[in-house]
Amino acid sequence: MLCRETQIAQQDNIMKNLPTGNQIAHTTTRRTFLKNSAAGGIAAVSGLLLPSLSSFAQSANAHINPLKIPPVDEGRRVGNKTVYDLNIQNGVTEFFKGLKTPTRGINGTYLGTTMRMRNGENVQINVKNTIGETTTLHWHGLHLPASQDGGPHQPIDNGATWSPSFEVKQKAATFWYHSHQFHKTSEHVWQGLAGMIIVDDEESGALDLPREYGVDDIPVVLQDRRFNRDGRMDYSPSRPDIMMGLVGNVPMVNGTLSPFVEAKSKIIRLRILNGSNASTYNLGFNDGRSFAQIGTDGGLLEAPYNTNNITLSPGERAEILVDVSGGNNFILQSRAAASSGGMGMGMMGGMMGGGSQSFNFLEIRPSQSLKNSAIIPAKLAKIDWLNQADAVKTRPFVLEMAMGPMVMLGLTNSHTINGSAMKMNRIDETVKMGDTEIWELGNTSPIPHPFHVHDVQFQILTRNGSRPHPGERGLKDTVLINPGDRVRVIAKFQDYADPDTPYMYHCHILEHEDAGMMGQFVVV
Ligand code: C2O
Ligand code: CU
Ligand code: CU
Repeated sequence: MLCRETQIAQQDNIMKNLPTGNQIAHTTTRRTFLKNSAAGGIAAVSGLLLPSLSSFAQSANAHINPLKIPPVDEGRRVGNKTVYDLNIQNGVTEFFKGLKTPTRGINGTYLGTTMRMRNGENVQINVKNTIGETTTLHWHGLHLPASQDGGPHQPIDNGATWSPSFEVKQKAATFWYHSHQFHKTSEHVWQGLAGMIIVDDEESGALDLPREYGVDDIPVVLQDRRFNRDGRMDYSPSRPDIMMGLVGNVPMVNGTLSPFVEAKSKIIRLRILNGSNASTYNLGFNDGRSFAQIGTDGGLLEAPYNTNNITLSPGERAEILVDVSGGNNFILQSRAAASSGGMGMGMMGGMMGGGSQSFNFLEIRPSQSLKNSAIIPAKLAKIDWLNQADAVKTRPFVLEMAMGPMVMLGLTNSHTINGSAMKMNRIDETVKMGDTEIWELGNTSPIPHPFHVHDVQFQILTRNGSRPHPGERGLKDTVLINPGDRVRVIAKFQDYADPDTPYMYHCHILEHEDAGMMGQFVVV
């Protein structure tokens, strides 16, 4: 029976992924790559210890834990504003039965509540920091003034409260928020400082889509982590981990290990967020069933895209509708050897993307009797396509990685964009408010990088000269750039100008961002 088979397959998979000696579960190609680079000499990996086998196996050999659904926070009405209160806090989470893991969360011990907002409303978010060190909270994907963005220029000291406010100007979509503390984003997100934002609008409200949060409209935050034997998930990346991005060997969904979720209606909607530090997931179901992608990072597609596979790199989101009928349980998986979302996946990228591991993320268990629900609408959202002819400027951005002794000795920057590593007091690009621009994204390094731009939702014009595939024909704020790719995106920078406060653009592999693969632009 399918269910039994998949259990065995998963157990094998977890066992295969168990670290042996001092080597974590990197693929041979990754290791070979590291050996061939100057990193080879110290490719031995951080002091990772095995979780006790019994607790590992107990959590690993079946989907035994009900999927945690982050509580939803719709804010409270104060005058003409919707106000949210967020507390960034330290906590303890029991991922493995009986093992206490120190973690961080927002209004919880690990990850944060799901903030729900409506397009057009004015929101104020009171963010209190109680973690004992400075951090920030950034609203990933939202169009807002740079001073309210929560990037590295809006640090919140321990004990302080930061209260950004802005008008929600978005199409209905799945966004997220996370720490963006300079040089510490990777560590803070690893510890749990991230959550989902759902924006609703009139257009999507008029569509017959599943929308009962946590029931047929399910938040799915995908991450992977490494644990020590004592249950801790210390953030201690080795040099090679920083070079490649820190990849874990334990998958989790909404902070739940080995989760299952019951599906009570025929069609369910999954809001999938790749909230990992560095892994690109090549997602599909273990029985190969197809599904409809309905949304990208910043909005619904014009029409559903039927597929059985979605590549999601760190920071990217996709909304999908899945028909669960057929009687059997099935599993949302990430499969090894991610084939790229685009056409021009270089050899190296194909072998070494963060998606080089297989994970069983989430078992979906259809109920005996399924509620009949929405049929998949043929038409979704209207997208106002930007016109290439309106672009007043084309800016190149080249993602680069340096290797060799100079890097290993810390004498030169390992991760750069257009030759420079991020500097807080250097503005790299100045954009005129109201302008439409084309940003041309390249990658001279041997691994893929997800490029993210603050403030805007952009549209992909071409990937290596061709139209992007249907799953990328929508609003995007993050796009995977494979080695050798040339991806042209177009965006309009409107509404907010501030010569003194920059927005960021960066690789969303958080170790790369922290290592310098980030730059700053102002809109004036
Ligand atoms: Cu998801 Cu600069 O952020
Ligand atoms: Cu962002
Ligand atoms: Cu990168």
